[in-house]
Order: sequence, then structure tokens, then C-alpha cells
Amino acid sequence: MTGLEVCPFDAPLGAEIRGLDLTTPLDPDTIEAVRAAWHEHLVLLFRDQNLTDEQHFAFTRQFGPLDYPPHKLLEIARGEIDADAPPEINIVSNVIENGEPIGVLGHGEAVWHSDSTFIDIPPAASLLRSLEVPESGGDTYFMNMYTALETLPDDLRAAIKGKSSKHDPAYTSGGERRAEYTETDPSKSSGPIHPLERTHPGAGRKALFLGRRMSSYIVGLPLDESEALLDRLWDHVTGGDFVWAHQWRVGDLVWWDNRCAMHRRDAFDPNVRRIMHRTQLAGERPV
Ligand code: OGA
Ligand code: MN
Repeated sequence: MTGLEVCPFDAPLGAEIRGLDLTTPLDPDTIEAVRAAWHEHLVLLFRDQNLTDEQHFAFTRQFGPLDYPPHKLLEIARGEIDADAPPEINIVSNVIENGEPIGVLGHGEAVWHSDSTFIDIPPAASLLRSLEVPESGGDTYFMNMYTALETLPDDLRAAIKGKSSKHDPAYTSGGERRAEYTETDPSKSSGPIHPLERTHPGAGRKALFLGRRMSSYIVGLPLDESEALLDRLWDHVTGGDFVWAHQWRVGDLVWWDNRCAMHRRDAFDPNVRRIMHRTQLAGERPV
């Protein structure tokens, strides 16, 4: 095995993986060691990895099939394109070229969320690498949703037992409404239903699975009760100590588990360029 070193952060989740060059194929033992670190630490940081997109795809593929970027997942869900379109890099950027944004999410805050939970089979993980970053701002925060579940007060844990919520695609993680989704009552809108307690297929642990707050709805409850219960759950997670914050350097690759971790991003100066490229690992139906 190559000289892999797993260095956990002094935080509720996350570890840096040192000693690997991600431009070349990993041997089977190293792949399994990285997978084990991913399942144990939820978020992995690899520094100084100046990959091409092809190398980024090749690295990701060693851990499972690639998934599509969010906009493609929605087009596939709406039956607008075939699911056998080739995978593509998802560009996350505020940069405008020839009057067009080169990527998604702009320079604003991205609120707490898991990626693409608005489809039946959301991606297992996202792998985001930095090509250009501001000197300050645009930090990304990750939340341990195992600990968030385990620390729920008993009455709240009992209140969500066996319950599921709807993951409506109406809002982007940047808080913008997607024009195609016009229903404003979350109890009536479209969207897949996922369990609030989700078992991670690789780690066997239960995590709180919230997706995003906007237009969420707990199935079977009157809307006002759903809103009240969601507010209590979100107060618990955002008020707790379940977070690791990452300040980006160029060449970082951050790989998060979308099934047991949420993330958010700070806003940054709109006049400074931030360019990130992202791949996704395909997931499984949440249970
Ligand atoms: C994402 C995302 C955060 C960031 O790519 O899914 O939320 O730091 N990005 O840009
Ligand atoms: Mn995201």
C-alpha cells in the first residue's frame, strides 16, 4: 500500500488524507483504506491535488459509478433527457464569461443542505476541487448528521420515529426558486419522500436526513405541525456542535458523504473569482 496517512481533524467530523497522488490509479488496498476513512470520518480533505477533469473523474470512478450534476438529475427526473448522457463536471463558480455564468451558486451564501436529495436516488457523495479561490470568504462547513441524530432530545427522537419527509426540488441550495416548480404549499408540491432517519449502507449507522429546510414537509402531518417539527429539528442541528469548517486553498479536493453529512457555504466578494469543479458518486434509495 502507498504511504497513506489518515489525520482526523479536532472536530466532530472530517480527516485529511496525506501521502496520496490522486493523478494516478490507487492500488486495491489503498482504495479500501480511503473508503474506510470516508465511512469513518464522513468528509475527506486531500491537499495539493492539481487534477485535470479527466483525472478527477478517474479518481472518483475508483469508488463507484459517477452520478450526474444536479441540473442533469432534475432533467432526467422530468423525463427531458436520457439517463445515458455522458457524465460531466459540475462547475461551481461566480465567474461570468461573455455575459454567462460559467457555473452555479454564484457568490452568495449556500444554506445547509445535502446535494440533490430532490430525486429518488440522490448521490452518495460529492467531490469538490478548488481551481481558484478568494483569499477570504467562501468557506464551506460540514455537519455530522449521525451526531445530530444521536443528540436529539428523547421527545424529538420519538416525534420523528418512522416518519418521512418530502424533498421538493423548488429551491437551489443558494436559496433561489427554480422557475419550473411553482407550487408554494410544501404539503402539495412534488418531490420524493425520504425517511428522516436514514441508515448509511456502508457504515450501518443511522443519520438524521433533512435535505434542506425550504419547502420541506413531514408526510402525514398538517402543514403547521410539520413546520413546527421541522423548525425544532433545524434549531437542534444548527444550534449544536456538529460542524467542521474548511478554508479552501487552490488544489484542495474535499469529498463529503451526502447521506450522513450536510454542508453550507459562506458568501464571498462578488469581484473575486472562485472556481470549483465537482464530481458525484451515485447513491442508493435512502432507507
Ligand atoms: C456543492 C456546494 C459549496 C461550495 O458543490 O454542492 O454546496 O463551497 N458547494 O461551493
Ligand atoms: Mn451542495
